[in-house]
Amino acid sequence: MPLQAKHFVQGFVYGALTGCCVWAIVSRIRPKKHISTHKKDDVDEEDIVNGVEGLIGNTKLVRIKSLSEATGCDILAKAEHLNPGNSAKDRVALFILKDAEERGLLRPKQGDVVFEGTSGSTGISFAMLGRSLGYETRIYMPNDQAQEKSDMLSMLGADVHRVPPAPIMDRKNFVNIARDKAKELTDDVNTPNKGYFANQFENLANWRAHYETTGPEIWRQCAGRVDAFVTGSGTGGTIAGTSRFLKEKNRNILVCLSDPPGSGLYNKIVNGVMFDIREKEGTRRRKQVDTIVEGIGLNRMTRNFSIAEPLIDWAYRITDAQAVQMSRWLVHNDGLFVGSSSALNCVAAVKIAKKLGPGHRIVTIFCDPGHRHSSKLYNDAFLDKEGLPHNLPEDLSFVDAAEEINLPVKR
Ligand SMILES: Cc1ncc(COP(=O)(O)O)c(C=O)c1O
Repeated sequence: MPLQAKHFVQGFVYGALTGCCVWAIVSRIRPKKHISTHKKDDVDEEDIVNGVEGLIGNTKLVRIKSLSEATGCDILAKAEHLNPGNSAKDRVALFILKDAEERGLLRPKQGDVVFEGTSGSTGISFAMLGRSLGYETRIYMPNDQAQEKSDMLSMLGADVHRVPPAPIMDRKNFVNIARDKAKELTDDVNTPNKGYFANQFENLANWRAHYETTGPEIWRQCAGRVDAFVTGSGTGGTIAGTSRFLKEKNRNILVCLSDPPGSGLYNKIVNGVMFDIREKEGTRRRKQVDTIVEGIGLNRMTRNFSIAEPLIDWAYRITDAQAVQMSRWLVHNDGLFVGSSSALNCVAAVKIAKKLGPGHRIVTIFCDPGHRHSSKLYNDAFLDKEGLPHNLPEDLSFVDAAEEINLPVKR
C-alpha cells in the first residue's frame, strides 16, 4: 500500500475510534430524556409522574350525557373519584401535609404520625400519601360509616379506630379524639415522634387546595364559560376554594349548595340560622347528620365553610330518595357508578338546569366512586330497611318531587 493511502486508512480508523469513545462517554453523562424512540427503556418524561402524589389532580370533566340531553344544558362533573385515593380529598391531604412540613410540624420518615377524624375519604388520602411521603396515619371515624371505607384504610396500613358517633361538643366525638391523641403523642417525653392533628374541618390548607387546583382546572377546562357551580359541603373546603376562584374570575357564576336532610347548612344559607327540622327532639333517626348520604352535611360552622358562605347564591335540600334514584339513573343511562354525595349533586344540577333553562353550563363534582357505598347506597336490602325507594326512575320527574322546603333561594 502506498504510504499516503496507509496514513489515510490509519487516520480514518483512529478518527472513528475517537468518535466512538467520545459518543460513549457523552451518552453516559447526558440525561436520557431525549433518546431515540426505538430503545427498550424509552420513557416519555411528560407522561411519567413521580410517586402516587403525582397522580393527584388534573382530573377530567365528564359530560353527563343523559342529564345534558334531558335538560338542554351542558352538565359536567369533575371526575374527582378518579384521583388515586378516589376522592377530591387527595388534593386536600397533600396540601395539608406540605403545609405542615413547611411549618416544621411534621418531618418525613422520622416516625411522625398524622391523626385525623374523618368519615373516610380524607383518611384514605392521608393513609395513601403517608405511605409515599413517610408518615404513619391514625384515623378515628364514626362507626356508622360504610365498613368498606375502614377496610380500605386498614389495607393501606392506617391504624383505624371506629368510634360511636357523638356530638362535636362531646370529648368523645371522633374529631376531638383525634386532636387529643395527637397532642398526647407530641407531649409524650418517652418518644421523639410528633403527632400532627390534620384538622380538615378547620385547616385552611383545605380550601386553598381547591382554590389553587380544582377551581383553576375547571376554569381552564371550560375555557372560562361556566354558568353555575354546585356541590355539597362536608368540611366546606371544596365549595369554598372552587367557588372563590371561579367568582374571582367571573362574579356572575352562580354558586349553589346541595345539602342532604338533617344538615343545618341549607337553613344557614336560606334563613341565616343553622338548623334542621330533624334536629327537633325525638324526630332524628340517625346519629350524625340524619341522612344516608355520606361525606356532606353538617350542623356547625367550620372555618372552611365560613369562607364559602358569602359566595353561595342558592341552596337546595335534596332528599335521600332523590339521591338514591339519581344513583340508579346514572348507572343505567350513563354507566357512571358514583357515591351518594355525587348523586345528590346531580339532582341539584338538574334542578339548576331546569331553573336556568337550556343552553347553560353547570359544573358539579363526582366526589367518590360507587364501590365505596356498596353496603348502603347500592344495597337494596339496606334501603328497604330505611324505607327508601331504589327502583330505576323512568324519567327525571323525581328531581322535582316536592319536599318540605326545597325552593331555590337567590340572595
Ligand atoms: C364522599 C364525599 N363527598 C363530599 C365531601 C365534601 O367535601 P368537602 O369536605 O370539601 O366539603 C366529602 C368530604 O369528606 C366526602 O367524603
